[in-house]
Amino acid sequence: MVLLDGKATSKDIQAEIAAEVSSRMQRGYKRPHLAAILVGNDGASETYVASKVKACERCGFESTLLRLNANISQDELLEQIEQLNNDDAVDGFIVQLPLPAHLNEQLVIEAIHPDKDVDGFHPVSVGKMALNLPTYLPATPYGIMQLLERSGVKTAGKHAVVVGRSHIVGSPMSILLARNTEPGNCTVTLTHSKTADLASFTREADILVVALGRPEFITADMVKEGAVVVDVGITRVDDDSEKGYTLKGDVHFDSVAPKCSYITPVPGGVGPMTIASLLKNTLQAARDKRS
Ligand code: GUN
Repeated sequence: MVLLDGKATSKDIQAEIAAEVSSRMQRGYKRPHLAAILVGNDGASETYVASKVKACERCGFESTLLRLNANISQDELLEQIEQLNNDDAVDGFIVQLPLPAHLNEQLVIEAIHPDKDVDGFHPVSVGKMALNLPTYLPATPYGIMQLLERSGVKTAGKHAVVVGRSHIVGSPMSILLARNTEPGNCTVTLTHSKTADLASFTREADILVVALGRPEFITADMVKEGAVVVDVGITRVDDDSEKGYTLKGDVHFDSVAPKCSYITPVPGGVGPMTIASLLKNTLQAARDKRS
C-alpha cells in the first residue's frame, strides 16, 4: 500500500508556483491576487479560508479576505461580488461555501464573472470542463487529478466509482475521470444517496473516490483488493481531545488501507491538493490577464 501524500505534493506544486510568481515579478508583472468572501463564521469554513490565505502568502500572492456578516442580504452579497468582478487588482475570487440558508447559492455562483471564477463553479466553467475546453477546474477534483498524475497512478481503462454527486466534488470528479485526458479515460460510475446496493458498485472499483461527508462510511468489505482509494471526506467528530474534535475521512482507514494499492490519508491527502489547485487557477487567471 502506498500513501498518496497530498501534503508533500501540494508543497511541490506551491514551490513551482512561487518560482513562477517571482520570475513573473522580475519581468515586471504584479503578484497574482486572490480574494475570498467568507459569510458568517462557520468553524470549518474559517479554517479552510485561513489555509487558503496562508498558502497565498507562501506563494507570493496577494490575498484579500472579505468577511461578511452571517445575516447579510442576498443583494448586499451580490453587490460585493460585482465589486470584485470590476476590481482590476483582483485576478480571481471565491465565495466560500456553504452559505447561510437564507442565501441562494446558485445565484451567488452565477454572479461571479467566469474570467474570475477560480473555483470553477460557474455554469460557463462547468460547461467548458464537460467539453474539455480550457477553463478553471473545480479545486478539489482538479487536485485529485494532479495527485493521481504526480503519484504515477494509471487511470486509462480503469473502472472509477465516485460516491457522492455534489457540484463541488462528485459530479465534476466523474466528468474529469471520464474525459479523454491523462489522467482520465476511466469508465465511470457515479453513485449517490439513491443508489441501490452501493457496496456492489464500490466493490467493483479500481479507483474509488468517496465524497459523502459521512465519517468512516466505507469499510473494508466494500473495497476491492488492490483498489486506489481517494477519500475526500473531512468531518469534525467531537471527542475528548484538546481541540474537542478529530478529523475523520469517509473511509475507515485502518481496515481499508491494507487492501489498497494506493490510498489518501485524512488529513494530509486531498485537502492540501485543493489549496494547490486554487493557487494554480489564480496564477492562470493572472497569466490570462497578462497583468
Ligand atoms: N466549500 C467546500 N469546498 C469548497 C471549495 O472548493 N470552494 C468553495 N468556495 N467553498 C468550498
